[in-house]
Amino acid sequence: MALLEVNGVSKVFTQKRKPAHIVLDDVSFAVEQGQFVSLLGPSGCGKTTLLTMLGGFMHPNAGEIILAGNRVEEPGPDRGFVFQNYALFPWMTVKENILYSLRVKKYSKQEQAERLQELLDISHLHGSESKYPIQLSGGMQQRVAVVRALASRPKLLLLDEPLGAVDFQMRELLQEELAHLVEGAKTTVIMVTHDVSESVYLSDRVLVMSGIKGRIIKDVYINLERPRRRQSKEYTAYVSELTRLVRLAFNGNSADVDSTAAAAAANNHSTKRQLSYVEAYNRASNKYAQNS
Ligand SMILES: Nc1ncnc2c1ncn2[C@@H]1O[C@H](COP(=O)(O)OP(=O)(O)O)[C@@H](O)[C@H]1O
Ligand SMILES: [Mg+2]
Repeated sequence: MALLEVNGVSKVFTQKRKPAHIVLDDVSFAVEQGQFVSLLGPSGCGKTTLLTMLGGFMHPNAGEIILAGNRVEEPGPDRGFVFQNYALFPWMTVKENILYSLRVKKYSKQEQAERLQELLDISHLHGSESKYPIQLSGGMQQRVAVVRALASRPKLLLLDEPLGAVDFQMRELLQEELAHLVEGAKTTVIMVTHDVSESVYLSDRVLVMSGIKGRIIKDVYINLERPRRRQSKEYTAYVSELTRLVRLAFNGNSADVDSTAAAAAANNHSTKRQLSYVEAYNRASNKYAQNS
């Protein structure tokens, strides 16, 4: 059985005096344990919406999501989530951010200390434990966000454009760091991105989504050794092929002019939304702590 099954998932947003907006229609795919899968598609095609439902922060209107045999109904410690732009707690130090979920779940002091050392090791953040997010570079903030999501050893790590806020010069370096981090953690990953090269560099498999109802138009396996060599002929061939597919996906969406403006509007609210997801996550974690 696959670790994750997405079966016929649909999501419709309704707003007053506007036609219903079908963002995802009957989307299905499965992910095997240990795979690194990217969801690649144009802005506004429903990637974040899909990831948010995998996180359990939002429910599909139809279909179901099954993780390790259980239906996803709400957020839980079996999933780690890295939000677009990291969304670290600015008032907490690096250490407090990383240990947040373990504290909520009442891990012993000893367990917390051990896990912290492991996570500082894999993220090369030793010496920065007492700093606040604002004192860190973008790359370091990203690493904190990833190890915070890994702290409770989730079965599934969900990354929403984890490098979206990083400038172009830093991106390739951070992709390499992310590859290391994830390899060290030996976890299954689903990453949302609109960056073709990023998806080729990091993934075992790339699902290309269309702007029309989030359809998966292609499932591409990246059969390249790691670490990947960006200059190799095979690598650039994958990049060209996926670029072609994303163009197709985007052109398919050109009639839906409204959606770009809507996506921009949604982005303006995204920080607020992310914080409310973090709060939902905290509530769910608290509930979990009380039940266990
Ligand atoms: N909570 C919401 N209410 C209404 N529309 C939304 C909401 N969230 C997303 N949308 C709309 O759904 C579409 C897909 O959004 P999103 O999943 O954020 O796209 P992507 O992550 O691929 O850029 C966009 O048109 C967006 O405006
Ligand atoms: Mg998004």
